[in-house]
This record gives sequence, structure tokens and C-alpha cells, in this order.
Amino acid sequence: MSQLKDSVFIVTGAASGIGRALAIQAAAAGANVIATDINEAGLNETLSQAQGRIEKYLLDVSDAEQIINFADTIIKKYFHERLILVNNAGVALFSGSFLETSLTDFEWLLNINLWGVVRLTKAFLRHMVKQNQGHIVNISSIFGIVGMPNNSAYATAKFGVKGFSDVLKVELLRTNIKISTVHPGGIRTGIARNSRLGHTKNNAEGKKAIETFEKAVLKLSPEAAAAIILKGIEQNKARILVGKDARTFDIIARLFPNNYHKVLAKIFKF
Ligand SMILES: NC(=O)c1ccc[n+]([C@@H]2O[C@H](COP(=O)([O-])OP(=O)(O)OC[C@H]3O[C@@H](n4cnc5c(N)ncnc54)[C@H](O)[C@@H]3O)[C@@H](O)[C@H]2O)c1
Repeated sequence: MSQLKDSVFIVTGAASGIGRALAIQAAAAGANVIATDINEAGLNETLSQAQGRIEKYLLDVSDAEQIINFADTIIKKYFHERLILVNNAGVALFSGSFLETSLTDFEWLLNINLWGVVRLTKAFLRHMVKQNQGHIVNISSIFGIVGMPNNSAYATAKFGVKGFSDVLKVELLRTNIKISTVHPGGIRTGIARNSRLGHTKNNAEGKKAIETFEKAVLKLSPEAAAAIILKGIEQNKARILVGKDARTFDIIARLFPNNYHKVLAKIFKF
């Protein structure tokens, strides 16, 4: 039986990239999609491209109060339905090394990429447990498996999402609630262009770093990434790796846990 068909598929960050592709494909697969984001114009574009049941909500995942109100509304409206919550919204920060990164920027990123996931999960999980049905899909990254230099805040959030999800997998094993962690490699979305440059690198150098990163790393289309993620959800996979680069780095980190950082230091000239 399809997990998606007739489920209420809540996806954050659905105005662009992976979130938009997930919303469109889930609607096509028969889910009742709740597309959320802070970007209303982007959400309208997602809705205009989608076919099937889809509605939009403006939701800032770094705003605790908005999350509680949103969850209350959705739970009341879809009390008996099976909910699939996809914590996808995320941002990047091109601020250089940890020493060059301000704590203000670090905190800004954690508030969206880590606290957003924790708060939304808190807001929906108790209801899911009471109903004994539901699925939470947390989008981490391959940067949540490998410690890439110049990504201290992003890695802290994405390793955090992995750790948080791993704990939930144990705690909820005897229930009917599924937890999946997703680790995409480079996906061709707006994430780099939408990123914050950081106070120390808000200049031509930072913009060039973004362009180089886009060309070198962001290869797989968001549509292909979404198809892999939805297949993983259908199969109730605990861990979904997206892309050849993600699978390769995952193997490297497992084969050389003591030494892979030395290779990265050489590549990135630290
Ligand atoms: N693109 C990649 O290479 C890649 C790789 C690994 C993981 N990821 C993760 O995938 C997820 C989706 O990223 P993407 O690549 O599609 O990026 P994207 O920039 O195309 O889309 C991210 C969406 O999140 C939204 N967003 C940003 N801040 C928000 C907030 N406070 N509240 C609600 N929505 C907010 C943006 O408006 C945007 O629509 C992120 O969690 C990202 O970290 C991306």
C-alpha cells in the first residue's frame, strides 16, 4: 500500500529546490500536500506547478509561536489522517572558517536548520503517538556525516539533525511512527545563492566562493533528489542517501574515521 496516497504530507521550505519538488511529486502521488515556507511568491509558484491536492501556509521554522499555531491548525483539520512531516527548510552560510564566523550567524543558522526540526517534531509527535501513525522525515545532509571545513554552523545543525533523528528512531521503534533521515549530496537548488555570506565575507570573495561551490558541487536536479526521497519514504527507510557523491563520502567516513579529516585539510588547504 502506498504510504503517500491520502496521507497529509507537510513539507517546510516548499517554495524552492528540494521542498518544491517534493511537494509537486507528493501531490502527483495522491498525497494531500501542505506546502509551507516564508516565501509566499515561491509557494504560489509551487502551487501553480503542482497537480492534485495542495495548499499553502506561510511558516517561519525559526519562529516557535508560529510553529505551535500551525501544528494546532493542521492537527485539528486533519485529526484522523496519517501525517507525514518533512522537515526540509534550510539555509546555508558562507562565512569561512569557524574563527571567521560570527556567533550571530552561527545562531541564525542553528535556529532554522536545527531548532526548526526539533520544534516542528515536538509540535506534531505527541499527536502522532496518540494516533499511533505518522512519519517524520528530517533532511540532514552529507555534511551531517562528514565534517566539511568552512561549514561549522551547517555541520553542527546537520549532525544535530542526524543525532536527534537517531534517538527518535530508538525511542519510537515499538510504535507505528516512522523516522527517516535524509542525507543529500550536492543538489542543484538555490541554496548557495540564497545563503547568508556572513559578516566577515560579505564581499566579492564570498560571492565567488558561492559561484565556485554551485558549479563544483551542486549537480543532481532537485526533481531527481525528490524522487529518491519519496521512494525512501514509501519504503520506510531509516536513512536515505541522495546522490553518488553522498554515497561515496558516506563510505569514506566509515572506512577512514580517524583520517578522512587529513585528506580534507589537504584538499581545502588548511
Ligand atoms: N542543495 C543541496 O546541495 C543540499 C544538500 C544537502 C542538504 N540540503 C538541505 O536540503 C534542504 C532544502 O534545501 P534546498 O537545497 O532545496 O535549498 P533552497 O534554498 O532551494 O530551498 C530552501 C527553502 O527553505 C526556505 N526557508 C529558508 N528559511 C526558512 C525559514 N526560516 N522558515 C521556512 N522556510 C525557510 C527558503 O525560502 C527556501 O524556499 C535544506 O535543509 C538543505 O540544508 C541541500
